[in-house]
Amino acid sequence: MLFEPIRLGNMEVPDRFVRSATHEWMAEPDGTPTERIENLYENLARNYVGLIITGYAYVNPGGKSDHLQQGIYADRLIEPYKSIVSAVHRFNSKIALQIVHGGRQTMLSADNPVILAPSAVTIKTNGVTPEEMTDEEILETIEDFANAARRAKEAGFDAVQLHCAHGFLLSNFISPYTNRRRDRWGGSTEKRTQIVVDIIERIREMIGDDFPIFVKLNATDGFPRGTKNVLDAPECVEIAKILAANGVCAIEVSGGIVDAGQEMFRTKIDKPEEEAYYRNYSKMIKEAIDIPVILVGGLRSKAVMEQMISEGHADMVSLCRPLICEPDLVTKMRNGETEVSRCVSCNLCSDESGIKCNYEFKD
Ligand SMILES: Cc1cc2nc3c(=O)[nH]c(=O)nc-3n(C[C@H](O)[C@H](O)[C@H](O)COP(=O)(O)O)c2cc1C
Repeated sequence: MLFEPIRLGNMEVPDRFVRSATHEWMAEPDGTPTERIENLYENLARNYVGLIITGYAYVNPGGKSDHLQQGIYADRLIEPYKSIVSAVHRFNSKIALQIVHGGRQTMLSADNPVILAPSAVTIKTNGVTPEEMTDEEILETIEDFANAARRAKEAGFDAVQLHCAHGFLLSNFISPYTNRRRDRWGGSTEKRTQIVVDIIERIREMIGDDFPIFVKLNATDGFPRGTKNVLDAPECVEIAKILAANGVCAIEVSGGIVDAGQEMFRTKIDKPEEEAYYRNYSKMIKEAIDIPVILVGGLRSKAVMEQMISEGHADMVSLCRPLICEPDLVTKMRNGETEVSRCVSCNLCSDESGIKCNYEFKD
């Protein structure tokens, strides 16, 4: 089952493995992607990862979140992505560009002194209070996302993924914890999702109906169950329905914002029950929509990956840290050489000199 093809919109992906978007700290300081990134993706494609999602690429310089992050904010960046896309296509894999605005997680710098967000809600981890975006700033950002998608298409990417998870701008809009607006961009579930719907519509106007758009969606902010005015089930199901009704081709289900703790990169995943920690959310979402659902977060063993698909929790499985630890993991699972990833989920792979597994294995 894991090795069967699947259709996402108009594209066929050769198997059910996704490399979830992973910031590599490998781009140039101005966001230009590098040969290091190309080699990394080429190696994943060679090793049967059917769909590769890039590290998050910022749609305008005011929405950059980290050093050496990929960018897609100007037409001159189209050309350098072309050889990366070709390298992946040589091995029959597909590649999607994840596009993002940092929102509350924008990196402050001399060039970037202001953090923009839907509402001025102080960030718990650093005490910074962002500025509430004006209507004009929101409309400009929608245009920036659409132009980013146009550039991705021109560079040859098979799809874009809108980053609506983990506390970045679009996730800030969706969550009632970070979106306290009472205008057309806030209030009801529909209004909080409106910016994403408008981005999709603008992409369609700019580059047509057939270019696949995926969404990585926070299903929960990650606050303790029962906390009021935060994102959680069942609201995430309503949001997924809105996205599917507006032409999104696949939803990757994730969760967590920093204000609620480091939910999205959970550590200590050493039992099958601890794997796939958003499985209940993805199941609820999958039951409510008829587009493919991708599950991310803590998938480590082939048995759990198979179970997630056979029991209707997801159509595809998405891996981040295990593919940093073992880029050839899918090859080894395919050959029957490996049943479980060696990844110990220690998070030492978040390495500003370029992602790599820094865990010291004893054997
Ligand atoms: C080093 C690192 C970089 C990441 N960068 C991104 C990113 O650019 N975009 C994104 O949506 N998620 C990013 N994530 C989150 C992963 O895509 C994934 O959702 C999370 O790590 C859980 O999956 P895992 O248990 O397979 O690692 C990153 C995670 C790590 C560890």
